[in-house]
Amino acid sequence: MRILFLTHSFNSLTQRLFVDLAEAGHEVSIEFDIADSVAEEAVALYRPDITVAPFLKRAIPASIWQSHLCLVVHPGIVGDRGPSALDWAIQRGEAEWGVTVLQANAVMDGGAIWATETFPIPPEKKSSLYRNQVTEAASRAVATAVARYVQGGFQPCPLEAWPNARGTMRPLMRQTDRQINWEADDTHTVLRKIFAADGFPGVRDELFGSPCFLYDAHAEPGLAGRPGELLGWRGHGVVRATRDGAVRIGHVRRPDGEHPFKLPTSVAFASELAQLPQLDDAGADGIRYEEADGVGYLYFDFYNGAMSTVQCQRLLAAYRQACTRATRVIVLMGGEDFWSNGIHLNLIEAADSPADESMRNIEAMDDLAEAILRTTSHLTVAALAANAGAGGAFLALTADLVWARPGIVLNPHYKNMGNLYGSEFWTYTLPKRIGAEQAQAVMQNRLPLGGEQARRMRIVDECFGVDMESFRNEVKKRAWDLSVMPDHEQRLAAKIGARRRDESIKPLAQYRELELAEMQRNFYGFDPSYHYARYQFVHKAPHSWTPRHLCRHRDVYLHKSPLPCMG
Ligand code: COA
Repeated sequence: MRILFLTHSFNSLTQRLFVDLAEAGHEVSIEFDIADSVAEEAVALYRPDITVAPFLKRAIPASIWQSHLCLVVHPGIVGDRGPSALDWAIQRGEAEWGVTVLQANAVMDGGAIWATETFPIPPEKKSSLYRNQVTEAASRAVATAVARYVQGGFQPCPLEAWPNARGTMRPLMRQTDRQINWEADDTHTVLRKIFAADGFPGVRDELFGSPCFLYDAHAEPGLAGRPGELLGWRGHGVVRATRDGAVRIGHVRRPDGEHPFKLPTSVAFASELAQLPQLDDAGADGIRYEEADGVGYLYFDFYNGAMSTVQCQRLLAAYRQACTRATRVIVLMGGEDFWSNGIHLNLIEAADSPADESMRNIEAMDDLAEAILRTTSHLTVAALAANAGAGGAFLALTADLVWARPGIVLNPHYKNMGNLYGSEFWTYTLPKRIGAEQAQAVMQNRLPLGGEQARRMRIVDECFGVDMESFRNEVKKRAWDLSVMPDHEQRLAAKIGARRRDESIKPLAQYRELELAEMQRNFYGFDPSYHYARYQFVHKAPHSWTPRHLCRHRDVYLHKSPLPCMG
């Protein structure tokens, strides 16, 4: 079946549905919602069986839904309507929420229901809820709706006929709804307000007399002060007292500042923070090491999966420390929302010389990648419970084994960021896993891959687990199995032997040097594409067209050549 995605952007949820529907044998093309006439043109060119709107900020034009079946993915329970569905659900403290697939009609989010799914809401930020629970529920609901369409004869249920619909119309949540009362709000309430606005739009507040939006909030048990008082700083966050405790704010956006995009608080308010006392820093940098049954687990939960120069250096130090332990296996666990998304584009954008900071960051990333590749003391595993992109995806490939959850989305390519050549030894690890030709195709096609698809292509070794929890439990079981293998020493010797052979053919230093020479051209050369793309990405510039590799319906050869299909 031909499915057209009409979407605001190719975000994580859209990518996951793209992967799912392609896996189910459907052909999917994408058009960004730029203008009604562009959407109409896409429908005319592609002639889809169904149009799906996974992430829309405006209504679908009547000219389209009146003549074609259009399914809207709404991140709310049946009956819920409005543009701030998750914000209200989190802020109101709903215990259970859902995703509903509706047929587009004249009433925004008010169409007949094709499928719906529910899930419990954890105490997490909105973006986390969206990337995990909402995405999983949307995946199931869209699969059900599409299957119902394929089967034929299904009559979607009008909202009025749905028994006991709990949802209701809610307006756009405004900053006045989000406002924190530092005198009166307890820690739980402050966290809920910031969670409901994280990653977008943040809670408008004030720090050091300057307006800013707050993100990345953490409870700080054991700390307290006069409500609203700034108690000090931990990691890259400022700690502020609430009515009954304290919270740490890790990221802010200063709309009137020199850099009006999201940054670590310690960077956005560098001089102001330096006036405050430093509090005990332990555990505030997102890096955590655990050990059990001969296995070391290294967690690195960095906001948005972005890894700055300093974060890479700290992680490398933690990795080196893990290598000194009397364990046999090291598992690189990544973070809750992302495994890694590569170098820290926001900090690079804010640097005095973005080119120099790009170079420093990529060198630090390469140091880490090289240390993993050169490890002779342990078997290493990258356990991808969450998505990984660009350099972050290739960092995973430096481990001996790569395990992934089927629901993750991998973007093992760099070109979307202004034609970046890429580093992290991808020219060594990717062709070694999948061959030179296939590696070239993955890099050129610039498409997301699902966990299972990546396993079939041998980009990852094993794919298992239904959700984050079952994946992590299974990782621990498998890592333990690996550590007690009677032939552990032989496996280690085989790995060292293989590395030695590879080194004699082409040293790692040479891969690194060649990749970095290309990156240097990206950072310092005549072509400013990378700097332009990074600026657009960090400043969240709206799209003015759909990238050519996504809108296959605009390919004049569409009917002559089959769509690129991988795995
Ligand atoms: N540096 C800084 N911020 C990053 C980042 C990076 N490398 N990668 C993602 N982010 C941020 C985004 O700006 C966004 O911020 P927000 O909280 O303000 O919304 C958030 O992480 C989530 O990213 P988003 O693009 O919305 O997530 P997604 O799941 O839809 O897409 C990617 C994931 C990886 C495809 C996309 O984020 C991406 O292309 N990132 C850049 C990767 C890259 O080029 N890295 C540099 C080369 S190594």
